[in-house]
This record gives sequence, C-alpha cells and structure tokens, in this order.
Amino acid sequence: MCELARVAVLVGTTGRGSNMQALAQACLSGSVPAAVACVVAISDSSPALARATELGLEAVAIPFDDEFGGALLSELGRRSVAWICLAGFLRLLPSEVLAAYPRRILNIHPALLPQFGGKGMYGLRVHEAVLASGARESGCTIHYASEQYDAGEIILQLKCPVEPGDSPETLAARVLALEHRAYPEALKIAIERAG
Ligand code: GRF
Repeated sequence: MCELARVAVLVGTTGRGSNMQALAQACLSGSVPAAVACVVAISDSSPALARATELGLEAVAIPFDDEFGGALLSELGRRSVAWICLAGFLRLLPSEVLAAYPRRILNIHPALLPQFGGKGMYGLRVHEAVLASGARESGCTIHYASEQYDAGEIILQLKCPVEPGDSPETLAARVLALEHRAYPEALKIAIERAG
C-alpha cells in the first residue's frame, strides 16, 4: 500500500470549512491518497477550526503576524506535512512557506480564473461580478498558489451554468457544490503528478 500524502488545510477566520470537510471526507473514504494531518486558521475563533475539531481533526491557530511563516513551517514540519490546501484562507502566504512547498500548495477559487479573481475578490463579491458581467457560465478553479492572488497554474476547473434569475447567493450555492467535488479531484491530480 502506498504511503498517504499528509495534508494541512488552511481555512479562513469566518468561513464555514465546507471545503476542508469535503477534503477530509475524500481522504477518509480513500478516494484521495492523502490524510488531513491538521487544519490551520489564523484565529482560534474560526468556525472552520471548530468544525475540524468536531470531525476529530487536529486544529491549530497561528496568529498572522511576522512570525506566521516560521510558526506554520514548524507546525507542518512536526506533522510531516507534504501538501497544503488553502480553503477560504484569504491571505497571501509568506515567501518562505511558498519556497518550502513548491507546487505543493493548492488554492480554490469560486469562479473560472483568470476572470473574477485577484485581491479583494472573495465571497459574494465574486458571484456579483460574474452576474454583472452577463457570463453564461461560472464554476470553480483549483490552482497552485503563488506570490499573487489567484494567479498560479491551474490544475482543474469545473463549470456550471449561470441560470436566469440567479442571485449571488444561488450562484454561490451552485458553485460551492462543485467545489466540494473539484477540490478532492484536483488534490489527487496534483499528488499523482508529483509522483
Ligand atoms: C469557497 O467558496 C472557496 O472557493 C473560497 O472560500 C470559500 C470557502 O468556503 N476560497 P468554505 O469555508 O470551504 O465553506
């Protein structure tokens, strides 16, 4: 049996943690050859961190200050983490973290990059922009993280229609359901590619 890739999921301070949960479940079910070694947030009041604890996962809060990069690397090192999945984590990672995990940090974005991404494009703003553009389809993108927001090489995109009468909320819900399928699939692709 091949060894499971150890993954850290970095979640947001206000997010639900639904992608983290989808990743954890896909790992547990064996559909992705990985195990979630820990879930990290920058605040211990993150609802996603509470959800991780409920799921029996190790939850770690690390303040986003000047020490963040070093502290994160040492937490991940202690747990032999080889992969990082950003799921609702809204900050750019310090360069030392990017350098330590080349092509091993993934991010998910709730639109079809390169459109509707970049600094400040998160949450309902993304779906508002898609609707305002008149686009007929939307979807989600999983890409390697880089020094810029939403800019690394794309691993996988899944698409869904924009329906007449969609609100940002209804579109967000349709895209979120896709995200839960796409993130585990993209992680599997990236792991297989890395050999
Ligand atoms: C998702 O829409 C993801 O694409 C974006 O942040 C949201 C996180 O949602 N990066 P959740 O916390 O995983 O439910």
